[in-house]
Formats: sequence, structure tokens, C-alpha cells
Amino acid sequence: MKFVQIGGGVIGEMRARSVVAHPDCTLVAVADPAPGAAERAAAGTGARAVSDAAALFEGAHCDAVIVSTPLPLHEKIILEALAAGKHVLVEKPLATTLDACARIREAAREAGRTVAVGFNHRFYPSFLYMKRVIDEGRIGRVDSVRVLGGHDGLANFREEWMYKAEMSGGGAMMDIGIHMTDLVRFMVGEIESVFASTGNRVWNVERSEDRAHVLMQAVSGASVSYEATWNEWKGYEVWMEAYGERGMVRAQYGPMSNLLITQSRPGAARKKERNFYPAVALREKLVGWQTTAQRSFEDELAQFLLQIAGERSLGASAWDGLRAVEIANATVASGERGEPVRLAAAPETAG
Ligand SMILES: NC(=O)c1ccc[n+]([C@@H]2O[C@H](COP(=O)([O-])OP(=O)(O)OC[C@H]3O[C@@H](n4cnc5c(N)ncnc54)[C@H](O)[C@@H]3O)[C@@H](O)[C@H]2O)c1
Repeated sequence: MKFVQIGGGVIGEMRARSVVAHPDCTLVAVADPAPGAAERAAAGTGARAVSDAAALFEGAHCDAVIVSTPLPLHEKIILEALAAGKHVLVEKPLATTLDACARIREAAREAGRTVAVGFNHRFYPSFLYMKRVIDEGRIGRVDSVRVLGGHDGLANFREEWMYKAEMSGGGAMMDIGIHMTDLVRFMVGEIESVFASTGNRVWNVERSEDRAHVLMQAVSGASVSYEATWNEWKGYEVWMEAYGERGMVRAQYGPMSNLLITQSRPGAARKKERNFYPAVALREKLVGWQTTAQRSFEDELAQFLLQIAGERSLGASAWDGLRAVEIANATVASGERGEPVRLAAAPETAG
């Protein structure tokens, strides 16, 4: 599988390395107009560094495209790649508006090509463990979920497109929240309604909420208490807990860890297990957090190949990308109106 990558910034550098780490994949070129960016991302990968992506989609030059550019460019680049018959793996969020997400999904369907969304938190070991515990029924049917995703907001952002609503599509919900929303759906399935309180009194960015507290109702009957925030002064933190009649499971990153409590029935004797992932902690201490993101990108790429082959995959689809944006929009609308917002029912063939 031959790839080209559009965008060679902070995430693009890691994405490029995830391609060459896969034995069946080659990175043909990296395109980025910023001086030195394409060269940095392509270094050591054998890929050509170019400033202009224009000719890269022509002919059999590549089979798939990775999009890791500023958000306002996602839709245009994805549509061009699809029109040239390429598969696409795009960094989160799929696009900044729901209409753009729908256009992309439709174009992928018409072209018969795969569009996958980079929701790499799915592949953090603690969240994969949680998914396995839930799917194996070890805590019984999930009745409720608590989730938090946060960081210290504008202190983290290098560019205006990362947080100004006209370019980012929104605030915390479109940023760190988009990962958490996807993880909620990954664990408990479709969400049917949201009821939110939102605010932007801390960072005061017009139309970009800096925190959202949301009650989500899942189609499965589970309820979700959710927070996405740019006011997490403790620093980057993501965690999720699921509770069923036979126990609970918690997954966290920063640091990577799990807690699992199981019982044969409500109130029976409980068994506790914990995972601390010492190898992850050591690697991060010696090399940096990027090693964890890098590994998740490698695992995500392997799942992308399965998606393309039409096989069972843990990768996020265009539908998953669209739905996460839809939930972000519904949350903001609910916060503004002070009432619950119902989401459209998922189509039977939501791919
Ligand atoms: N998965 C995650 O956890 C995560 C975290 C941060 C960012 N992201 C996503 O990754 C993507 C890139 O973010 P980043 O932090 O690497 O940003 P960045 O600013 O470091 O990199 C973006 C790069 O795109 C380049 N670019 C601009 N216009 C271009 C064009 N027309 N063609 C090709 N390249 C172009 C820029 O020069 C820059 O080098 C965004 O979609 C962002 O939302 C994902």
C-alpha cells in the first residue's frame, strides 16, 4: 500500500513514521508548504518532501492519503483524494461542520473508497482493555458511564485554527471532547440525546466553549455523564469509567492505567485488578509522550488496512467521524437552549 501524506507538522511527523513502521506500507511523499516541514516529516522515511500536493494524487502514484493539515483544509483535500480514487485516513475531527462531514461520507460512498478518522485514543492500551472487558461482558450490561477529557486550553494551542470557532468548528467539544465522544460511542454504542451546560467564561473565545458538562443517553439504555474542558489546570487528562451490574472498569491516560472491579451480582464480594503499564511509563519518561501517540498511530494504521479490505476493524469510520461532530453540535445547541437535544436516528448502514 503506497501512501502520500498531506501535512507534516507535529502530528504529521508521527503519522509519517507510523506508515514506514508497517511492513506492507510505503510512504511515497509528504507535502507541506511550510519551510522545512515536509523535509522534517519525511526524514528517514524514504519519502519525497514536496511543498505542493497538486500532482500527488495523479495516477498510480499512491493508493491512500493521510491528511494531517489544519482543520479548514480537511474537506477539500479529502474530496480531491476521493475524486482521484484514493482511500483516506484523516486526523480528527473529520471536518469542522456536519454538512462537510456528510459531503465527505457521500463522496466516499460514491467513490467506493474508505475514509477513516484518526481517533487514536481507541488504541491506547488502557482504553482497548476497557473495550475488551465490556465486550466480554465481564461487568455485565453497562448501565452508566463517567468520562472526562481536559487540558489547559489555549495554553496548548500554537495556531488560531486550533481554537477559533470559525476555523475549528467549536471549542472543547471539537478538540479534546471529540476523542471522548468517540470513545463513549466505541464503548457503549450510539447516543440518542444530549442535555448540556456549556460556557466560555474562562478563555472568552467567541462561540468556542471552554467547558461542556453533558448528560448523554445511549440507545442501549446507558446514561453518560461527560465533561470536556479547557480548564483542566492539572494538565492533560482523559479517563472513562463504565458501571454494570457485575462491576466497573476504569481506563485512564496520564498516566496509562486501569481499574477493574468484578462481582458475581450487585453487592457480592468484589475482586479488584489494576493495570499500570510500567513499560509505557518508562518509555515516556526516557523518550517522551510522543512514543505513546506514535504506537497508537501504528495500531490505527493496521486497522485502516483492515477497513480498506472490508474486514472487521476497530478503526473509526466516516460515520463515526460525522457522529462525533453531530454530538458536539448538539451539545452546544443544548447548552444555548437549556433543553435536551435529540439526535437523528442512525441509518441501518452507518459505515
Ligand atoms: N490525534 C490527536 O490526538 C491529535 C492531536 C493534535 C492534533 N491533531 C490533528 O492533527 C492535524 C494536524 O495538527 P498538528 O498539531 O500537527 O498541526 P501543525 O500546525 O503542527 O501541522 C499542520 C501542518 O499542515 C501544514 N499545511 C498547511 N496547509 C497545508 C496544505 N495546503 N498542504 C499541506 N500541508 C499544509 C502546515 O504547514 C503544518 O506544518 C489536525 O487535524 C489536528 O486536529 C490530532
